[in-house]
Amino acid sequence: MAKEIVLTGITTSGTPHLGNYVGAIRPAIEASRQEDTDAYFFMADYHALIKCQDPARVQQSRQEIAATWLACGLDTDKATFYRQSDIPEIAELNWLLTCVTSKGLMNRAHAYKASVDANIADNQDPDFGITMGLFCYPVLMAADILAFNANKVPVGRDQIQHIEMARDIAGRFNHLFGQHFVLPEAVVGEEGSILKGLDGRKMSKSYNNTIPLFDTEKKLQKGINKIKTNLLEPGEAKDPNDSTVFDIYKAFATPEQTEEMRNKFAEGIAWGQAKKELFELINGQLAEPREKYLELMANPAQVEAILQAGAEKARARVRGLISDLRNAVGLVNFK
Ligand code: TRP
Repeated sequence: MAKEIVLTGITTSGTPHLGNYVGAIRPAIEASRQEDTDAYFFMADYHALIKCQDPARVQQSRQEIAATWLACGLDTDKATFYRQSDIPEIAELNWLLTCVTSKGLMNRAHAYKASVDANIADNQDPDFGITMGLFCYPVLMAADILAFNANKVPVGRDQIQHIEMARDIAGRFNHLFGQHFVLPEAVVGEEGSILKGLDGRKMSKSYNNTIPLFDTEKKLQKGINKIKTNLLEPGEAKDPNDSTVFDIYKAFATPEQTEEMRNKFAEGIAWGQAKKELFELINGQLAEPREKYLELMANPAQVEAILQAGAEKARARVRGLISDLRNAVGLVNFK
């Protein structure tokens, strides 16, 4: 049986935090180990340029994200790991798809509409600050997915619409030029895969409530100490269902460890002690990958070589399809 193609992209505009790890990195690496899947993971660095016009930050983030995935155990012999910007075929497909995508479809994209609404609320011109990159974002994302004819695309809830748009665009192209694309499906992680941040809301860079994944041990401890708790004293029973400390603990613990912690909450564990145990649990799991991460960050050439090999593998995979598509639309050599 043909393997199922699973593909996902990571926008390279920040430093990975615990929420990225629990929600995306850890499940993706686990999925990539399965025999019946062919996994493609890439750094969406073209997408990063839409939001970030600071070259140093784009560069730093690409390096951090690459080192993170490798340090967390991604097996690049099995999965294909690459930078979007190393695959010129994606940019080429982006144009072929742009030419069949109706502007009306893009007008309906949530991210674009939110920017327009914000401008209107601010009494600005509706188009203020909106680039064609932002407007066409879903077409580039469709190109990422369709270039590999991915079957399954693991994403956050906010990205579901983009996968639906990729299906629409693929359908339109197939209708015009013949059956070239598989219609991809979004796979959204369970609720449990969304980690809470320092303030109890979803851990997210935009809420400024994150704990970095691979900073120093001290910073991890400091981050954990900043998690919001209530004023219950040691000895007073605490509610695990309403505690960010418990929530994060659970994301790293075995079911048995989680049960033990649940009992300690009922017995009135002090917040300081609960945080200490949380730190020990997480640090125990991150200490080894952290070493590896620091080593990779200090050896960019090593990471570069892995990514160059990944790009070669990815390009070999897309070349045939792109050549068929060129033929299909009439970009053929004269004979
Ligand atoms: N837009 C996605 C995000 O911000 C990142 C991304 C880019 C992506 N291209 C993709 C995800 C293709 C899945 C498939 O999260």
